[in-house]
Parts: sequence; C-alpha cells; structure tokens
Amino acid sequence: MGLSQQTIENVKSQIDILDVIGDFVSLKKVGQSYRALSPFTNERTPSFFVSPAKGIFKCFSTGKGGDAISFLMEHEGWSYPETIKYLANKYGIEIIEDEYTDEQILHQNERDSLYIAMNFAKEYYKHNLLHTDEGKNIGLSYFKERGFNDNTLDIFELGYSLDQWDHFLKYALEKGYQQDIIEKAGLVIKKEGSSQNGGRGIYDRFRGRAIFPIHNLSGKVIAFGARVLKNNSKQPKYINSPETDIYYKGKNLYGLYQAKQSVRQQDNVYLVEGYTDVMSLVQSGIHNVVASSGTSLSDDQIRLLRRFTQNVTVVFDGDQAGIKASLRGIDMILSGDLNVRTVLLPEGEDPDSYSKKLGPPAFQKYLEQEIQDFITFKTGLYAEEAAKDPLKKAEAIREVIESISRIPDPIKRTVYIKQCSDQLDIEESVLVAEQNKILLKRKAGKREYDVISDIIEEKEATRRSYKNWDEEEIVALQEKESIRLLLSYGYNEIEEKHHLYDYLLEELEEVEFSTPVYKEILALFKKELAQGRVIDAMYILQHGTENMKSEVIDFEANSERYLVSSNWQKQFNIYVPEEKEILKQVTFTNILRLKFRVIRKLIKQNLQDLKNAPLDEQQKFQKIHANLKKSEMEFAKLLGNVAV
Ligand code: UTP
Ligand code: MN
Repeated sequence: MGLSQQTIENVKSQIDILDVIGDFVSLKKVGQSYRALSPFTNERTPSFFVSPAKGIFKCFSTGKGGDAISFLMEHEGWSYPETIKYLANKYGIEIIEDEYTDEQILHQNERDSLYIAMNFAKEYYKHNLLHTDEGKNIGLSYFKERGFNDNTLDIFELGYSLDQWDHFLKYALEKGYQQDIIEKAGLVIKKEGSSQNGGRGIYDRFRGRAIFPIHNLSGKVIAFGARVLKNNSKQPKYINSPETDIYYKGKNLYGLYQAKQSVRQQDNVYLVEGYTDVMSLVQSGIHNVVASSGTSLSDDQIRLLRRFTQNVTVVFDGDQAGIKASLRGIDMILSGDLNVRTVLLPEGEDPDSYSKKLGPPAFQKYLEQEIQDFITFKTGLYAEEAAKDPLKKAEAIREVIESISRIPDPIKRTVYIKQCSDQLDIEESVLVAEQNKILLKRKAGKREYDVISDIIEEKEATRRSYKNWDEEEIVALQEKESIRLLLSYGYNEIEEKHHLYDYLLEELEEVEFSTPVYKEILALFKKELAQGRVIDAMYILQHGTENMKSEVIDFEANSERYLVSSNWQKQFNIYVPEEKEILKQVTFTNILRLKFRVIRKLIKQNLQDLKNAPLDEQQKFQKIHANLKKSEMEFAKLLGNVAV
C-alpha cells in the first residue's frame, strides 16, 4: 500500500511554502522574497531565500534549492511518502492509500522497516531488563546501584541485551522480521567465515550490555549505545550502532528528543559528555540537557541546537587535564553564533557523580551559582597560568583571541576584548591587533560565495531596529556609513568630474563627527587628500591604527552581503541594483539621514538645557528649539517617504 495520487495532489494544492519552511526557519521579508540564515550551514550572513510567488527556496551557500517538499526531504531527511504524510497531517488532509508495485513498496518501505525493526529491538531490550532473570540480576541491579530510578529508566527507555550469541536474531526471525533488515539496522554483525557463534558467521551486535536507545527528534529509535557491565572486561566500555539509512552520527544529539521542550522553555541547553550524565541531570530535575557523546559537536549538531535555543551551557568535569583539551571544541559552538557559558565541577567529579553527591536541590543551585561566561572562564584559566609563568602570556593572548575572533557579532567581540584586557592585564590595542591578524587571515582563506542582497531592504531592516537605539548610536551608525562610502567608493565619479569624496567632504563640512575613530579616519582622509592622495580601505588596513582597521574589517566583511548573485537574478528574474549604480542616491540619503539625526540629537540636548535653565534664560532655548524643529521638518520632507 502506498499513498494515492489523489492524496499527493491534495497535499500539493494546499502547500504554502512560507508556512512549511517557516516551521523550521525564521524568515524575514525582504522585498518580494524572504530571507534567513541557511538551516544547512552555520553561516553569519543570510543566504537562504524563499520566493513565495514561485514556491521555491534557494540556499546560496550550499547550492541546495527546490520546492517545499524537497525542502522537507532535505532538512528532515524524510522520504517522499514520509514528507507527503507529514504535510497531509499538517493540513488535515485525509490520506488515501493505493496499491504500489512490489519494487516501489520495497524501496519506499525500507526506511520504515528499519524504524520498525529498531522499535522492535528497543521493546525487546526493555523487556529483557525488566522481566527476565538475567536482565533483572545484571542490568536492572546495575542501574539501581548507580541510583537511577524507574522513572528515569522509563524516560530513556533503557534496556538490556542478554549475554548470548544470537538470542535477539533468533527471536526477531521467529517474529517474522527479515534478516536483511536486521542486518541493515546494524543489530547484528555478519562476518563470513567467522568462528563466532559456532561458525554461523552472524551474531547479535549487543550482548550482555546495558542498552541506551538513541532517539531522533520525533522520538523514534534510530540507534543504540551499549555499555559493558562485566568488571575488568577487555571490551570497549561502549559500543554503538553503526551508521545506517536512518542514523547519521553527527546529525543527532543524545537526549534532545527528551529535552527539546524544556530547552525551548528554559532557552538554554546543558551540554554534558555521556549518556549517564544526561540521565543524572534529568533525575535531578534538570531536563534541558543533551550529551555530546564524548566528542566535540559537529556543525549539524550545533545547527540542530540552534533550532531550540541560542544558549549553550557546557558542563566541564573537574579534571584539569581534560578541560584544556575540550576548549577547542567550544570554538565551534561560538562560530555558530550561540552564547556559550560554562560550569566547572570540582576536581574529580563528573555530572553523574556530583549530582548524586549533592542531591537535586543543591546540585541545581550549584549549576546556577557556578555558571560563567565561556570567554571569561577561558581567559581566567590562562590568566592564572600566565601569572605564574610570564612566558605563557603570549600563548594566553593567542588562545583567548582565537576564541573571541570566532564570535560573529563585532559588538560582542569588542565587549570581550575590553574585558580580557583587564583580566590578562594587557593593552586593548594589543588584543585588537592580534584579533585583526586572525580575522584577516581567515577572510583571505575564505571562498567568496555568492550572496544576494537587496541593500535598500537591508538598510530598511537596520532602520526598523533603530526603535530600541538611542540617538547617539544612530548618529554613530550614520557616521560609519559615511566612512564606508568614502573609503569604498571615494574615487567614483558620481557626476562628471565630480568624485564621491568631493561631494561627501563638502557636505560633511557642516557636521562634526561624534565618534572618535570616524573622526580620525575622516581627518586622515583629508590630510592625505591635501597631498593629492585618495586613500581607501586597503590603505587603512596597511597604515591605519588598530581601531581604524577594526572598523574597516567590519564593513568589508559586511560588504560580502552586497555581492549580487547572477544566478539568483537569472533564476527568478529579480533585478537587484548594484550598490555602485545607485551610489549617488545612497550617498545623498546617508548625508540627509546623518544631518537629520544630528538635529534630533541637538533637539534632545537643547530640551535638556531648557529644563535646567533659569527662568530668564529659557526663552533663548525655546527659540533654538523652534529653529531646530524647523530644520528637522525640512529634512524629514527631503527624506520624503524614505522611512527615517
Ligand atoms: P564516558 O566514558 O564518560 O561514559 O564517555 P559515561 O556515559 O559517563 O558512562 P559511565 O558514567 O562511566 O558509566 C562519555 C560518552 O562517550 C561515548 C559515550 O557516548 C559515552 O556516554 N563513548 C565512551 C563511546 O561511545 N565509547 C566508549 O568506549 C566510551
Ligand atoms: Mn562520564
């Protein structure tokens, strides 16, 4: 049986691509289309686009594209029928089944068969644990000894595999399961000519072990971890399912299915190492916890987490040697634009042991009290060493800056640099210089992928976010924009024999910049111009102060967004003007906005003065106010329907 053509047609006619993709990605309207950070990469600049009119999506950083159905198949790893069923469910469409050819059934049902086999195995292992003598004596007593209660065993669906060569295989075959599905699910190991299991060449993968099922996000079991229970066994502590058609190691996180709701509610996820750590935290009443399974997180796993929260709290075992080794893995999480915090456990403790030592309330309190920002934590660690051994100072700087430079948000980076300068007792400029070195090196090595952006819309979005900004910040932003235009396009002729810099400098005569670094850049520009040189961004990178360089790096990195993808234009017939073409307009608008903002700032200051003025001087400030208001109106009119 399979889905009828009618069902598929009904589903297709109901699909609203924004609604479908919007369940997984937060989309922002940009002109005719919608934009987001790609769910397929850990990018900083949105390159994922959805065109509702055409019913298609395109991810420019991975090249993936297609309709709503292919999005779901790609994003969720579903088969076509799985996807149709999901959509039918979503839109309340009745599913009518149809006859399929044998071959189709075979093909489409294989993944379903794997899920069914894994579920069967899970139930079997659970039964062993709870209802067989061997399971109770060896498995259950082990869990009980470690303090895990029935509820925890139930939440994680723990089990036990009997200590025999092929008890599971025989049982499954007896129940009508096909051997090749059992093999494909990784539940047995097949070795031709093996002498194991009396030379039969096939035997159960998990034998005499405690079983930890690994669930996907919808709660289906896709793999198992199995812990050895015998003392001084030569076997590895854990053996795990191999990768199969339904299980990709780096794409899953242990415990996320059980944790996801709480992660959303708490807007934070605790990251621990092992299966038992997850269970212990949950038993301590902390449900927002997942395990990295002892390795550092993959890009896919970071992306997975980001669907639920922006905040990750890494719990470190109190073993000094181990900490440094795991620090590097954390940089990946920073690159993913997640906020990382840490909790360090006392020497010799892991989450499992320590939660049991303290008991739930005290352990929860410990986590809350010891939580520390990751960069602060890492800097502290290296600062301590550097204090003992001055030769280690350079290493400390490098290590800390390496992490800071991973953070995509330049404002956050600045804050951290200030803080680390205090913590390490090193001049801020030294740290900024080190950071610039790293950023430039990385930028040089980066492939410049095509990113489409409609700059006007981009700026629209920035302006919309002005609401929460104060007047000073907005002025600084407009100043920055002036500097960007000056350094990026200064020499461009916007009218015949009239360079952009002529125009901009003339207009800026009336305005005094309030941000020191922009003031300095402007002064430098003028000074060089007086010598007949028109300087640009490159010049600043070579000869500017470290602060100037930071600014330039920042808007250079941003300008990658302004690259227009010819593909996008061709494919969707969208015309995006290049910035250069509309340079005049952009410059003109920038100047107007800058002046407008400066006037607003003056109005605010003047009102303050008015409030503080003695009665006999108030009239003077009132007059100034009236004049400023008049100019404000004029500028607003000039800016026209451009939202300011
Ligand atoms: P641990 O050795 O810390 O295991 O490895 P644990 O889960 O805390 O178990 P207990 O408390 O000692 O019983 C951490 C994680 O690394 C993976 C597992 O996911 C484990 O939970 N691991 C470890 C393996 O996959 N294989 C191994 O042999 C060891
Ligand atoms: Mn452990």
